[in-house]
Amino acid sequence: MSRNIVLFGFMGSGKSSVGRILSRKFGMELLEMDDEIERREASTINDIFKNRGEAFFRECERHLVEELAERDGLVISTGGGVVIDERNIRDLGRNGVLICLDASPETIHRRTNRDDYRPLLHTTDPLEKIRELLASRQPFYDLVPHHVRTDGLSVGEVAGEVLTILGRCGWHRDGPTG
Ligand code: S3P
Repeated sequence: MSRNIVLFGFMGSGKSSVGRILSRKFGMELLEMDDEIERREASTINDIFKNRGEAFFRECERHLVEELAERDGLVISTGGGVVIDERNIRDLGRNGVLICLDASPETIHRRTNRDDYRPLLHTTDPLEKIRELLASRQPFYDLVPHHVRTDGLSVGEVAGEVLTILGRCGWHRDGPTG
């Protein structure tokens, strides 16, 4: 039986909001990978990208995944780009049920365009950038076993869909059984 719940998906797909609901429901700790990296590096994601570069950030993600794959009882909200290193999906899958939240470029744009903490979207045409990144990453997101389409759904409705998947995987209100 899987001991962590891991949420994947592009920026703005709703991982953090859904993660909070699941964490409350199951009484499990929510681990936001971006927040944890910011804490460890004592820096914001924007500054990590600016001062150390994206490759360094990906190394931070990789190290954190290696640690989290050994832990239990977490709801893990990943960063949207964690999937581009396929080892991250494989490792988190050893001890977790993996669910990907999907959304169209337009939905993602609408959900992210007032935030400024996502360095990859600091471009003159964020919607085009979202389209490009999403297209290039789709083969990796497709490796995640469970998917929920989030366009037009409220956070509560997405959480409901996720709970249905978890139920099928043997998770109930008090956590995993079996
Ligand atoms: C990234 C997504 C961000 C954050 C960083 C890079 C990406 O996380 O990890 O800005 O490459 O898609 P969210 O998906 O939580 O916004």
